[in-house]
Amino acid sequence: MYLKNKKILVIVGGGIAAYKCLDLIRILKRGNNEVKSILTKSGKEFVTPLSITTLSKTNTYEDIFDKTSEAEIDHISLSRWADIIIVMPTTANFMTKLSIGKAEDLATTVILASNKDILLVPAMNVRMWIHKATQKNLKILQDYGYLFLGPEKGEMACGEYGEGKMSSPRQIIAYLENYFNKRDLIKKKRLKALVTAGPTREYFDPIRYISNESSGKQGYEIALALNKFGFKTTLITGPSNINFQKDIKIKKVVTAEEMFNEVKNSLPADVAICAAAVTDLKPLKKNKNKIKKDDLIFKSLNFQKNKDILEFLGKNNRFRPKLVVGFSAETENLVNNSIYKMKRKNCDLIIANNVSKKDIGFDSDYNKVSIIDNKGNTKIIKKSRKSFVANKIAEIVLNKLLDNNKLFN
Ligand SMILES: Cc1cc2nc3c(=O)[nH]c(=O)nc-3n(C[C@H](O)[C@H](O)[C@H](O)COP(=O)(O)O)c2cc1C
Repeated sequence: MYLKNKKILVIVGGGIAAYKCLDLIRILKRGNNEVKSILTKSGKEFVTPLSITTLSKTNTYEDIFDKTSEAEIDHISLSRWADIIIVMPTTANFMTKLSIGKAEDLATTVILASNKDILLVPAMNVRMWIHKATQKNLKILQDYGYLFLGPEKGEMACGEYGEGKMSSPRQIIAYLENYFNKRDLIKKKRLKALVTAGPTREYFDPIRYISNESSGKQGYEIALALNKFGFKTTLITGPSNINFQKDIKIKKVVTAEEMFNEVKNSLPADVAICAAAVTDLKPLKKNKNKIKKDDLIFKSLNFQKNKDILEFLGKNNRFRPKLVVGFSAETENLVNNSIYKMKRKNCDLIIANNVSKKDIGFDSDYNKVSIIDNKGNTKIIKKSRKSFVANKIAEIVLNKLLDNNKLFN
């Protein structure tokens, strides 16, 4: 078994498939992995803490107000400790709780307090699974970035056949092997990612500038997703209201020229994703003093082109990243304009997004994009949270790097 020396937190929910957690824990322990477990109140009806404790060789957690161990603040320490959190079985009820952000017991509080990946392994009667409420929760949870495995089609404990059967412990192990395999390789090779985000501002006097409505949200989410995959990530961002987390390296800039210089200084990198909406033009000169109103009206401003960061990366002979990814914000002819841009700037992938709609794109929490590669393959991501779109982009970037075979031989 590949899976070794990982720290896995298993949360056991209140479904008939709960007994299978014992098998998972047994296999994980054979691979020298550390396992800690939380049993929900309903989970305890299906499997005993004694069985879990015996197999995991450590205490099973149950109560958020545990007088003996809360000195450590379990919901924080467990989340910090884990490499990944698995909820098996994830019941319909548990999905509802997560979808509304409940923190009513140890299991839900650990999850809400965690910045680790959380793998949900649902199991329920087929009608519970296809119920509109459950499907709505599924969409919400996917948007929030929860990972899902299953459910599978098959015969269920209730005697019915359909989608709702929990993925087997072997399938969960295969998922985890693939999950850690990729991340361990990225860490071992110390792969570097460079992401640009936000707008730039081009000042024509000390207080006035031209810019655009980019919020930086999409680029920031991409940096977070790549960071979670194990890339050493640098985010170069124009002015933005986002509260940046400390675990990625942030370089704040204002103008396109500053962004260009920071990008150049951050090379070499294995992948560069240019999500920033760089202002194409800058005023020929920046006035030392505020330009008077009448002068503004009667004096036309002269502009020059800013340096093209994406083209610089795509055509860089010495330090070209193995993968150069551009964003193409368009209001018309989305796909054709984007493919033209990809070819002109020698990128490997282009993310086309329509910025003419208010509910997606600039400043919205949602986006809808087409991811196009230089062979013309296209993947459409329907309207989703920017964090979800970012994860999809990060996955595709990762697969492209793996397929290239240059990095992982
Ligand atoms: C015998 C029995 C089996 C159950 N199996 C499931 C199941 O497989 N999936 C599910 O979603 N709920 C199932 N339920 C209902 C859950 O136990 C119930 O919704 C519970 O509140 C879920 O607790 P949790 O949120 O801690 O997982 C079952 C209930 C009983 C009595």
